Amino acid sequence: AQKLLVDVDCGVDDALAVMMALAAPNMDVLGITCVHGNTSVENVCKNTLRVLHACGRLEIPVFQGAAKPILGNVISAGHFHGEDGLGDVPDPNAPGLDMLQKEGAVAAMIRIVNENPKEVSLVATAPLTNLALAVRMEPSFPSKLKDLYIMGGNIESRGNTTMCAEFNFAADPEAAYIVLNDYLCPTYIASWEFTCYNKLPWSWCDDWLAQETEKARFMARIFRHSMEASNSERSLAEMVDGTGFVSCDSYAMAAAIDNNFVTLSDHVAVTVELTGTFTRGMMVLDTLDMLKKPHKAFVMKKVNMERFKQLIMDALK
Ligand code: BDR
Ligand code: CA
Repeated sequence: AQKLLVDVDCGVDDALAVMMALAAPNMDVLGITCVHGNTSVENVCKNTLRVLHACGRLEIPVFQGAAKPILGNVISAGHFHGEDGLGDVPDPNAPGLDMLQKEGAVAAMIRIVNENPKEVSLVATAPLTNLALAVRMEPSFPSKLKDLYIMGGNIESRGNTTMCAEFNFAADPEAAYIVLNDYLCPTYIASWEFTCYNKLPWSWCDDWLAQETEKARFMARIFRHSMEASNSERSLAEMVDGTGFVSCDSYAMAAAIDNNFVTLSDHVAVTVELTGTFTRGMMVLDTLDMLKKPHKAFVMKKVNMERFKQLIMDALK
């Protein structure tokens, strides 16, 4: 099976991405690293443990990582995912934080990849702080990865957090910059607009959540808050290509699970705006190759929607 590390800020779509990995017969989840983002890193750790609990997979190690971005203030996304990151629903059976590993996330990522050189896929569905710290601690870290899948950034300068910036990049632009320079491994990016162009119809979601399983009941509970936010007047996702559920992080995970799931762009250099009156955190594609950067990435273009639905459906079985 494909060895996998997942770096999350466990909101609702991160939870689904983790559940997809757990359900995929070809994936072997070696660990989950947590970082600030949708909610505080402590909540992210709790949420990740709750997801593993709901799937009966608490043997998978969970590691706590960075509580703040490299520079600047923490931003979070409670308006969408709920203040606790998972829809603010009570969970009396939530595992305690004593279930966390003692080892920190960055040290664990480096160790696990050293133990499995060139064999680990890393799926990052959160601000890239842990990844940036990992390459600073261990410069050879990226070259020992098999590949990297990122949910983040934007391709048409449409943001969901600022005018031009997608949440994961806006929440730590410096970290995104470091990763897009220094991660010299095959890199695949699911941008905000790409995920918006490939929404799941709400009627399909009803059937998805109606499955008679514990996992579906768990998802239905945590899903409600973000579904209502998605259907609110201010819905950002609807501004890009109409209504439906945008399960952002699932697209990065789907690409890691199944290579045939997406059509990709040419290999292109990608960077991030770090200054700018309006544009800090915006992803910039260097299609003219003016930067002559050694690091290039594949930007996801089109998905096989039937295959995607199947992976999402199976995640709750
Ligand atoms: C990203 O931001 C978070 O709220 C989601 O979990 C996803 O990773 C989308 O912009
Ligand atoms: Ca996320």
